[in-house]
Amino acid sequence: MESSDGRRLSVTLVDVAEGREAEFGTLATHFEAMLIRKEYGRVEIIRDEAMSRRFYAVRYWVDAGAAERAHQDPEVQHIIARMHQVARIIHLVNGVRRADTAVRLIDDRRARLEPDRRSGFDRRVKNVGRPEGERRRGDRRLGPRRVRDRAGEVDLVAAARRAREHADAAFSHFKVGAALETGDGSVVTGCNIENATYGLTICAERVAMFKALSEGHRIFTRIAIVADTESPTPPCGACRQILWEFGGNLEIELANLTEPKGRHQLKNLLPLPFDARLL
Ligand code: THU
Repeated sequence: MESSDGRRLSVTLVDVAEGREAEFGTLATHFEAMLIRKEYGRVEIIRDEAMSRRFYAVRYWVDAGAAERAHQDPEVQHIIARMHQVARIIHLVNGVRRADTAVRLIDDRRARLEPDRRSGFDRRVKNVGRPEGERRRGDRRLGPRRVRDRAGEVDLVAAARRAREHADAAFSHFKVGAALETGDGSVVTGCNIENATYGLTICAERVAMFKALSEGHRIFTRIAIVADTESPTPPCGACRQILWEFGGNLEIELANLTEPKGRHQLKNLLPLPFDARLL
């Protein structure tokens, strides 16, 4: 059976949002047809009998090259991005792993995540150490170490552009979208929301971060920020603080509606930060 070759098998866990089952079904059908039509492989969607709205998507790639080509295919990326909008998707087995890498049943990213599963409170208040004492070496980020170095798998900028369409910027007319990538590869988006008091406005970046935290995510790798301007739109001061405290030294990708506008590390945008280490 094809699945005996772990390099050709990908498994993702899919938790479909309540009320989005029909949309997910349609997307899954399109995805299935697309993999066959483009000769990348096939997908089987298996329902978890114990949990409603939980599925396992098992993809059998024709070969490792087909898996890589599929991941780079804009049509595939588009449909996966749409799936991210109706479901939380967690990668369990990575089918694009090269032959010389040991094949593990559970993606090593997920396995390495476990030791860092401290609660936000423990992580930020109890465990980060004193500035003069057990402070991490050099420019290490405040939060848990990065669990994922293969940036670029998910088109975060495209997700931020889509999120921007939901912005409610009736007063400034300045719409912003953000997409935050978590340690398990999920994408959580946000847009700016304004209101009549002006002052209660919340930026896209904080909406994304607070949504992610409220869904239990605690490890973050990148954030993309999109506005419709020629010059880049970097995060405001308040957002830099929140992103730093909860996300550490995130990679920040700025873009407008058509092109990238720069890549930064948060530590460079927020030098000499105040955070829990100083309390
Ligand atoms: N805004 C963001 O959402 N993110 C940024 O990085 C910059 C500013 C929003 C806040 C407000 O709704 C509008 O853009 C104008 O400042």
